[in-house]
Amino acid sequence: MLRVDCHLHPNFPFFLPEFFVRRHAEKLWATFRKRKLDAVFVAEHAFKHPFRSYRTLLKYRPKGATTQIIPAVEALTREGIDMIVFSKDMYVYTQRDIITPYRLTIKQLVSRVQKDRRLHGVIPHPFAPSDSGILRHYSEAIARKDETILRFVEKYNASLTALEQFLSTLHLTRVLRQLSLSARNTTRLPVRLIPRGLTFLGGSDAHHVWDMGSCLVIHGPKPRTYADAFRTITSPRYKRTFVWRNHRHPLLSMISDGITAFREHLMRKWKLYGVDLLPSQTLARQS
Ligand SMILES: [Fe+2]
Repeated sequence: MLRVDCHLHPNFPFFLPEFFVRRHAEKLWATFRKRKLDAVFVAEHAFKHPFRSYRTLLKYRPKGATTQIIPAVEALTREGIDMIVFSKDMYVYTQRDIITPYRLTIKQLVSRVQKDRRLHGVIPHPFAPSDSGILRHYSEAIARKDETILRFVEKYNASLTALEQFLSTLHLTRVLRQLSLSARNTTRLPVRLIPRGLTFLGGSDAHHVWDMGSCLVIHGPKPRTYADAFRTITSPRYKRTFVWRNHRHPLLSMISDGITAFREHLMRKWKLYGVDLLPSQTLARQS
């Protein structure tokens, strides 16, 4: 059995001195251990230093840590849709057009990933109540088609579970019906959006350590090496389930998420980002 968080944002405070960055990395590694995660997709937003985030986590990996980290990015398409692209090694971080926010349309990005055997992709949270969900822009038929091309589907996403918990505790699910439905469809993708034969992924989509812990469980043999783990995660062979972790303080989770979402909104709006690229010669030298 393998516990995997296929969608995590390290959310490093790179604007602070290195001491705080190191402390943040240590907290992340401690949480990977506490939540017994065998693997984590380091899927930072394209506009928030995805490669630097991965590199920082590697740099501060504690001795004896057993969690494998998988290079990924939550790419941002020209329409503003999120799509996670990942690879077995750091190859994804050498791809300028993928790492650059707003460069490719979702159609171009999907076909780009389809054509490159070293890349894999998945469209997260199609029903997200924001521009980042594909269904804000395109029909369910188009979303299904793109998912089929990619062969992966994000069936579970825990980003709105605090909101769901909050709405149900206050009996607001009827009053805020639309919001509550978007949250439910984000948490568990409806069957009509899951074409047959695709491989399920799922993750916490957490931006803070206190929101981590929900993860995909792959019912396969415990992998011995990184290569084994990657093969198991991308293989359609094994049964998959998901474990949910309840928020201890849903309101506090919502407030911290709201602050982070606002900061990310400003970063996108004011283009407060660079292109965080790994030169391909460096990757070639390392392998
Ligand atoms: Fe995300």
